[in-house]
Amino acid sequence: MTPLIEVRGVGKTYGSVIALRGVSAVVNAGEVTCVLGDNGAGKSTLIKVLAGVHRHDEGELLVDGRPVRFSSPRDALDRGVATVHQDLAVVPLMSVWRNFFLGSEPRRGPFLDRGKAREVTRRALADMGIDLRDVEQPVGTLSGGERQCVAIARAVHFGARVLILDEPTAALGVKQAGLVLRHVARARDRGLGVVLITHNPHHAYPVGDRFLLLKRGRALGCHDKSEIGVEELTRQMAGGAELAELAHELRGVDP
Ligand SMILES: Nc1ncnc2c1ncn2[C@@H]1O[C@H](COP(=O)(O)OP(=O)(O)OP(=O)(O)O)[C@@H](O)[C@H]1O
Ligand SMILES: [Mg+2]
Repeated sequence: MTPLIEVRGVGKTYGSVIALRGVSAVVNAGEVTCVLGDNGAGKSTLIKVLAGVHRHDEGELLVDGRPVRFSSPRDALDRGVATVHQDLAVVPLMSVWRNFFLGSEPRRGPFLDRGKAREVTRRALADMGIDLRDVEQPVGTLSGGERQCVAIARAVHFGARVLILDEPTAALGVKQAGLVLRHVARARDRGLGVVLITHNPHHAYPVGDRFLLLKRGRALGCHDKSEIGVEELTRQMAGGAELAELAHELRGVDP
């Protein structure tokens, strides 16, 4: 199976800051590749390279086995790579269906076909198991988790082959994070290759097939699920020694 996306020894610097160096990973159809790491580890930088926001200045990016250099996010999207950024780029006061189409609304002659737009939105959401009472309601009235789900359904509907999610569960409570992860699994089951960025090994582990750990711009390792358990993943993420040290320091401040 040729991976949908592959990076080989990819690197990116911002001026004198080495944000990413020598990172290799694959994204296969019907699988979830998780990217884990602490603040500043290079997660967003990697995602921006995959999404066509930034150009890598080292290594290779391959799509369907062929080397590419995306010239823009539009270019990436045209090849089926859709990215849901953390801020989601939704317009809170606009209705759910307007946000769903954002400029590609169906038309009848010169006019917007509102009826069709509403119906298509409702159906696309229902297909992903999202049951909204009213697609006319402003997106701002939805919960954070529901908004993420709308963004995922949108990418699936518009034919994404690769879905990149930058920290979709970061600001969510347990229940809502569970909801979003269920939709990540649904997108995977439909055959999309998913890239899930998160700080939280407990969010990554249940849905992930492969785990890429970044630290200060370098890959600490890339493990298949069969090779690593959630405890070990958590330990590597946190840097076991550093946490032990912190626990020690915290004991020191006890009254
Ligand atoms: N536009 C930029 N210009 C200069 N340095 C940058 C830029 N973007 C990121 N960096 C630096 O590159 C490194 C990696 O940043 P990146 O945003 O990829 O990390 P991250 O893993 O996404 O972190 P977080 O979890 O905080 O989102 C950091 O040291 C950061 O300060
Ligand atoms: Mg980031």
